[in-house]
Amino acid sequence: MQKINVITIDGPSASGKGALSKAIAKSSQFKLLDSGALYRLYAYLSNMNFKSNEIADQIKKNVIFELGNQDLSIKYLDNDVTDDLRSEIIAKTASDLSSRKEVRTSLYNIQRNFYDGSGLVADGRDMGTVIFKDAKLKVFLTASTEERAKRRYLELQNRGQEVNMRELIDDIKKRDLKDSSRELSPLFPAEDAHIIDSSNLSLKEVFSITENLIKKEFN
Ligand code: C5P
Repeated sequence: MQKINVITIDGPSASGKGALSKAIAKSSQFKLLDSGALYRLYAYLSNMNFKSNEIADQIKKNVIFELGNQDLSIKYLDNDVTDDLRSEIIAKTASDLSSRKEVRTSLYNIQRNFYDGSGLVADGRDMGTVIFKDAKLKVFLTASTEERAKRRYLELQNRGQEVNMRELIDDIKKRDLKDSSRELSPLFPAEDAHIIDSSNLSLKEVFSITENLIKKEFN
């Protein structure tokens, strides 16, 4: 198989793949695909009553992704919808919709088209197994349930939200089961993926392991 200049970073929620993907995209000056954001946009537009067959067109024509210094910002018709997409209600709708065939099919080309021949970092659940099977480098980032719950706890606390550790652990377990047991594009590492367990590693350490893999695979 002809390999393309793509680095896929897959893994369960709160494994740190978002932060790693952004850091790698910046240091390599690669484009970034946050595929979770596309599922969230799908949910957002479906809540605005767009029909299934209209949503991909809306995304293609009216959505702009911008990778700034800190974060990826997402604009729909010139409005910044980044925070709206992060809400719990959108997350829940995106998660429900993501198991439907027409939803995954309609987002396939949009995701593939993020690759324009230059470098791309693709962050998601099925980047290495379905969308970019031909990626030069595949990373599967994971961490223990407790560690991921701890990270989510600190993140939500920083945003001033009340959180209960027990509930967070239960939520993460439920989502893991749902993501890995669904029929379409279930979450699992590609055969040729490098698995990194970040339970006892800082972002800096995970970044440095990934940078070494990039040096090996891209030179
Ligand atoms: O990663 P994030 O939380 O933004 O993803 C939102 C939802 O989209 C999740 O519930 C996840 O299961 C789904 N998703 C997916 N395939 C991807 C990326 C995200 O099914 N490649």
